[in-house]
Amino acid sequence: MNKSILTLKNINKRFGSTIALNDVSLEVFPGEIRGLIGENGSGKSTISSIAAGMQKADSGEMLFNGESWNPTSMIDALQHGIGMIVQESGTIPGITVAENIFLAETEQFKNKLGLLNRRAMNKKADEVLSDIGITNVHGSDMMAALNFQSRKLVEIAKVVMKKPQILVIDETSTALSHDGREIMYKLIKQFRDDGKAVLFISHDLDEIMEVCDTLTVLRDGKLIRSFTKEEFEPDAIRTSMIGRELQGDYYRSDFTPSWEDEISIKAEHITVNGHIKDVSIELHKGEILGIGGLSHCGMHSLGKVMFGALKPDEGSVTLNDGTEINSPHRAMKHSVGYVSKDRDVESLNLSASIRDNIAIAGFEQYAVGNFLILNSKEKPYVQEQIDALSIKCSDMNQQVSALSGGNKQKVVFGKWIGRQSEILILDCPTRGVDIGVKQAMYQLMMKLKKEGKSILMISEEMPELMGMSDRIIIMKDGVIMKEFERSAELSDAEIIKYMI
Ligand SMILES: Nc1ncnc2c1ncn2[C@@H]1O[C@H](COP(=O)(O)OP(=O)(O)OP(=O)(O)O)[C@@H](O)[C@H]1O
Ligand SMILES: [Mg+2]
Repeated sequence: MNKSILTLKNINKRFGSTIALNDVSLEVFPGEIRGLIGENGSGKSTISSIAAGMQKADSGEMLFNGESWNPTSMIDALQHGIGMIVQESGTIPGITVAENIFLAETEQFKNKLGLLNRRAMNKKADEVLSDIGITNVHGSDMMAALNFQSRKLVEIAKVVMKKPQILVIDETSTALSHDGREIMYKLIKQFRDDGKAVLFISHDLDEIMEVCDTLTVLRDGKLIRSFTKEEFEPDAIRTSMIGRELQGDYYRSDFTPSWEDEISIKAEHITVNGHIKDVSIELHKGEILGIGGLSHCGMHSLGKVMFGALKPDEGSVTLNDGTEINSPHRAMKHSVGYVSKDRDVESLNLSASIRDNIAIAGFEQYAVGNFLILNSKEKPYVQEQIDALSIKCSDMNQQVSALSGGNKQKVVFGKWIGRQSEILILDCPTRGVDIGVKQAMYQLMMKLKKEGKSILMISEEMPELMGMSDRIIIMKDGVIMKEFERSAELSDAEIIKYMI
């Protein structure tokens, strides 16, 4: 047998009363792509970030290439061979791409007088990006101007540039669309071919079985089982993830498109310079309308326009009573809710508690006469959302920043679902959420549909679009390419054709 490149022995980690890791031991071998899978809050990010120097274990031992491994920081770990793409945003918005890539290493671009040679730095950044196949992002671009996928790709380039021996990729696929994923898969295979190793975290079972050579399942901080490629079997993996068999429907079970005649919200002739060209859509009462495409196709911007969070250069968004939606305030007042793809920037106040985040959007649901907030009403309201989505937390006063990635997403979802919005604009609502909770979210969406609510679901996940939508609209380069109606005959190949 090969000698392991990374060995973790009996790792323990607690956060207050939460046991994040319970005696986890794991080995990673050269040339191996090891998948890590498990429910939200099972310890995936914790174990991998300990190996990558982001935090320390309470006890246990790590060996890297046979020697004791105790990185003092992520930078230290990266310099010595383990690099990690973190689950949440790992770049700084207010500076350029090149500055992000060479953060704390700009010395090399300074002349004798200490002046920074920006042109040289930008050029080097362009090289680093194009080395891994990214050609539409440049060193001189402002980070904040990039979309979510491009920001993630910059992070990848930044880590891979250091040529680590082990690359840890934490729940990154859902931030990438088709083309971005191709770049990532190519990199991963290169690592394997070079005899290096990858630790790959994803909630997408199909993806992880396709990409990985071995798979380790965590549950409640414990290592449950490792599978070799020959042992990969979806039901067995799912069962070991959730400790029981998944019961009931996952996506909706009918194939009959249905909605009421009444249009609840419509966007007419929307143009956002550089993003969207003359797009019109109508969402009906009781309809789930899916919008799909590659990440830069304009659909995410369209979602923001429909919530009033992005002002179009031309066109308008109106409700059935003629009310124009031109600000988030207006949207919320008229029962329009919005789950953003980029939860850290747009949807959550990370330094506030779960309670405050959920309560603020649901204000009308429990406030008396619109001004008096009763503790006795607010608490049960928040607890209801926590239970409905099984948000894993110590209690409702816990800071959102301390939650695992998927549990943060549940808070965003709970915030808007709970307030009984008539119209919901969901941008990648299940990003980073485990299969058990995804199922609960899909069931909730069906319940809302049956109650006559309208849902606009923007998604990069083909199975989800096909599994839930009454109609699917495909966008490409800012225009609508094609519209499909729900049907059992629809195939993903047929839909993808219009995306790329
Ligand atoms: N800084 C922290 N403070 C308090 N609790 C934390 C902190 N970081 C993680 N936890 C808790 O530790 C547990 C494991 O979290 P971790 O982030 O490793 O989960 P995960 O498997 O990556 O989940 P996800 O799929 O949602 O990303 C969770 O219960 C989480 O709330
Ligand atoms: Mg995580």
